[in-house]
Amino acid sequence: MIESLKANTVLSVRDLNVKFYTYAGIVHAVSGVSFDVYEGEIVSLVGETGCGKTVTTRAITRLIEPPGRIVGGSALFRRRNGSVVDLLKIPDEELRRIRGDEVAYVFQDPTSALDPLYSVAHHIAETVRAHYKGAGKKELIGLGVKLLKQVLIPHPEARIKNFPHELSGGMRQRVVIATAIANKPRLLIADEPTTNLDVTVQAQILDLIKDLQREYGVSVILITHNLGIVAEVSDRVYVMYGGKIVEHAGVEELFEKPMHPYTQALLRAVPNPLKRIEKLESIPGTVPNLIDPPPGCRFRPRCPRAMDVCGRRDPPFIEVEPGHHVACWLYAMG
Ligand SMILES: Nc1ncnc2c1ncn2[C@@H]1O[C@H](COP(=O)(O)OP(=O)(O)O)[C@@H](O)[C@H]1O
Ligand code: SF4
Ligand SMILES: [Mg+2]
Repeated sequence: MIESLKANTVLSVRDLNVKFYTYAGIVHAVSGVSFDVYEGEIVSLVGETGCGKTVTTRAITRLIEPPGRIVGGSALFRRRNGSVVDLLKIPDEELRRIRGDEVAYVFQDPTSALDPLYSVAHHIAETVRAHYKGAGKKELIGLGVKLLKQVLIPHPEARIKNFPHELSGGMRQRVVIATAIANKPRLLIADEPTTNLDVTVQAQILDLIKDLQREYGVSVILITHNLGIVAEVSDRVYVMYGGKIVEHAGVEELFEKPMHPYTQALLRAVPNPLKRIEKLESIPGTVPNLIDPPPGCRFRPRCPRAMDVCGRRDPPFIEVEPGHHVACWLYAMG
């Protein structure tokens, strides 16, 4: 029996755990991650490289390859027809139908998402085939041209015949987004979608994602290590560190009143979060090795405010103010 979802919730992830069983040891990549995505909002997952953002979102539709394994948790998803399924438990066949259709991904590297042997038209046709059963070639091309127009690709009638190598990085990423939205997904997961692009193209792609959210009510999970992007597009933010969510708040609240020492350090590392190109580079220390991490708070070795208890026990994730959660002993001592 599946517990019900709140009416406006598209996705509810609870206690997700993913490990990689490597020769060097067990990597605790994602440890007890829980979060929600509501209808028509943009939720950001933010944190330095290696803190578990990609693994978290790939695990939602079981895109974890060996030696990785999802060892626990649930991911309740409200389908287009209103039914609620646990993406971590449904049969493979049902999951395959949901993936790319109701849940779509845009990954960081547009080059790897497109097969160099096939034209843009072919990529789009492949994506929509199941959705538009019985559609002829002409109809599919027409749909493709419409999609390319939507992602603001100039001369779509000509571009649709191009092969990936004939397009710039920004154009390729637009094509990837066009295929991702082709079936009007309920949930779009964009994993660092602008990282390799120059600043102007970055801005255009972000505007595009915002437009999609506004026009079609698509819910978006946006993964980024760039706080400028977070400030600009998201409604709510989850901050990840060491495979866990350490803070959650509405975007304004988070920037005005960051509570977790890690979030505070992230914000200090970016003097002006509204500048798109700033990077998180100057937090002293490095992200923790997730092979057999020690008990307690994973930020402790880098935390200027660490206390005795921090090394002994995991801080609980508690709601400090309405809608503002944090996992840090500074707020859990009562
Ligand atoms: N195939 C893999 N084998 C072993 N460890 C992995 C693999 N993929 C990811 N990891 C580990 O999982 C953790 C989270 O990685 P990831 O989700 O990619 O981080 P992020 O997207 O936040 O940069 C990291 O410690 C990373 O080294
Ligand atoms: S729990 Fe302790 S070590 Fe962790 S962030 Fe809070 S104060 Fe720092
Ligand atoms: Mg990543």
